[in-house]
Amino acid sequence: MHILHVVGARPNFMKAAPVIRALEKWPEARQTLVHTGQHYDRNLSDVFFSQLNLPEADVNLEVGSGSHAWQTAEVMTRFEPVALERKPDVVVVYGDVNSTVAAALVCSKLLIRVAHVEAGLRSFDRAMPEEINRIVTDRLADMLFTPSEDGDSNLQREGIPLEKIHFVGNVMIDSLVRLLPLAAQCPKNGLPERYALVTLHRPSNVDDGASLRGILEALLELNEQLEVVFPVHPRTRQRIGQFGINVEKLRLLDPLPYIEFLALQRRAAVVITDSGGIQEETTYLGVPCLTLRSNTERPVTVSLGTNVLIGQDLGRIPSEVSKILDGKGKKGTLPPLWDGHAAERIVKALYCHRDVSFTQTD
Ligand code: UD1
Repeated sequence: MHILHVVGARPNFMKAAPVIRALEKWPEARQTLVHTGQHYDRNLSDVFFSQLNLPEADVNLEVGSGSHAWQTAEVMTRFEPVALERKPDVVVVYGDVNSTVAAALVCSKLLIRVAHVEAGLRSFDRAMPEEINRIVTDRLADMLFTPSEDGDSNLQREGIPLEKIHFVGNVMIDSLVRLLPLAAQCPKNGLPERYALVTLHRPSNVDDGASLRGILEALLELNEQLEVVFPVHPRTRQRIGQFGINVEKLRLLDPLPYIEFLALQRRAAVVITDSGGIQEETTYLGVPCLTLRSNTERPVTVSLGTNVLIGQDLGRIPSEVSKILDGKGKKGTLPPLWDGHAAERIVKALYCHRDVSFTQTD
């Protein structure tokens, strides 16, 4: 079986790595890795390839940045000839980024089977570009691998036939489990004993001057109570400069490699974020997480894990942080099948269902 993986942006890499590793153990699996080039900075891309032991991409589409329509269209245009030439039996797409939906669209029109890893997640907020990518990708996919049972319910409600849906658990946690021992050995690099780790990159938080300013002011205030450590996404760095906001007092870092970021997360007193994946990682690590969004496509991190949705209510940050520092933060439990073996279940399903026809409709 020829399996072609499409990755493009930072959150794809830790999801693809375990699947590729698990497939390497199947002698009859031939694999091709396509990088769309959606993320191209060394510290958003290359460094993840090396730390996650991803093989070098067979093809890099070098798409780069642009508007959503441009970026999605560019991935489609550049990926179509690759799919035609390589003739994979199945194309595996990951998560919810523009590269994911673009590859799914190309393959479904070429009648190439699509497998979607991290299917079924819904924020029910169509103002979020990723929500559109999730809905479209799931609608087109032939095999849908869900990380949590809410994903199965969402897909069934949308009319996706049961036989296409496979609850396999969280593949991103596979990478975390594997590399956590290395993260535990990372030096502290002069970090304080207690700190708040912050990440911020959602367009809804950072593209609007007033909203970004409000969040950064709340963080500056928090910094008086608990030191803020903030690895800054390039998009956010650009906006801080553009809006002329003074954040000198915060400890700003460049985006960090996977293992170093994991090390920061496991030692953090609290994580404040608008990322999807970090809500999951903190739940696994048992580290309290305050999410600067009013909804989440990962509700198990709230119902079972350590996540609290703060939304726009920035005034809640000091009291939530005080609660956490007093040891009264959410403790949380592990969601089912977040056990480091999701990729093995994906590979088994890929093989067991290899003959499922792509023409099967829903
Ligand atoms: C993308 C994903 C988002 C994911 C995030 C993780 C979509 C719709 N969004 O958002 O789901 O959580 O990745 O980082 O696919 N840039 C660089 N260097 C790079 C890449 C981007 O400087 O290597 C800058 C560019 O100015 C670019 C901006 O970041 O315009 C945004 O990049 P883009 O890929 O469009 O989306 P992200 O915000 O990174």
